[in-house]
Amino acid sequence: GGAGGGGDTGENYPDRNITFVVPFSAGGPTDTVTRMIAEPMAAELGGKIVIQNVGGAGGTVGAGEVARAEPDGYTVLMHHIGMSTAPALYQNLDYKPLEDFETVGLVTEVPMTVLARKDFEPATLQDLVTYVKANADKITLANAGIGAASHLCGLLFQNAVGVKLQEVPYEGTGPALTDLVGGQVDFMCDQTTNTSGQITAGEVKAYAVTTPERVQSLPDLPTTAEAGLPDLQVSVWHGLYVPKGTPQEIVQKLSEALKTALADQGVIDQMAKLGTAPVPAEDATPEAHRAKLEEQLNTWSKIIADAGIKAS
Ligand code: MLT
Repeated sequence: GGAGGGGDTGENYPDRNITFVVPFSAGGPTDTVTRMIAEPMAAELGGKIVIQNVGGAGGTVGAGEVARAEPDGYTVLMHHIGMSTAPALYQNLDYKPLEDFETVGLVTEVPMTVLARKDFEPATLQDLVTYVKANADKITLANAGIGAASHLCGLLFQNAVGVKLQEVPYEGTGPALTDLVGGQVDFMCDQTTNTSGQITAGEVKAYAVTTPERVQSLPDLPTTAEAGLPDLQVSVWHGLYVPKGTPQEIVQKLSEALKTALADQGVIDQMAKLGTAPVPAEDATPEAHRAKLEEQLNTWSKIIADAGIKAS
């Protein structure tokens, strides 16, 4: 009901609160990135943005809810690389990324870090590889569920090393990191937007970053290539989505507000502190985002199939 659907030309949008759905727990990397851009976007739109965390199944529960929401611009999804891996990892996913969503624009691309609880034995990434091979059945690997970025990185790690570890799923890597600091779980691969603080504080043991170059805000952390695991390279791209059928004027308003937020010095500084940066303005567009999603859906379905991973 309401002013939703095709009829609304969007000129009085927004005239009520906009909900940004984060498909993972509060306090994790996806939530952190969303909260960074929500304020400057709301200011630009002249409305209020409310963040709703909908966890579960590696982000697919939250994504599914947005796919079925009213296409009126009042429900927006923040999601990441998991939008392009889930179709290859779930047999009956209840949404189709390219058919059930409009892309609004890309947001940022975040490096990942391989890290363990502080007293985990291995000192270096090479030691970790040796240790994991010898103790695979005793090691727990935390992630945010099948389809999460942390799950994907864990998959790539296990494939690169040739082991199968016991995975411990959480509704987000915020709570997973809490357990890692507490020593309840052994290790995980997670984004610098979540792990930078605990790494700098020495509360966890960090082995490497999964990007070709070192991360300026974590200068002592070697890249996986330097540390002898070149196959483990992945970074987590993020984008905003609205349900298919949302009026184009509204999609454009959201994309313009996103570009403004990504040019905001506060956002740039916060992202730099957490090891990342806004995408260039030309990528914060519906077209650039859609092209990225199409290419990534292709890329990951091949990698996942080649790795012999079956959808569950
Ligand atoms: C993930 O995919 O691992 C998510 O980024 C976790 C999160 O945001 O909590």
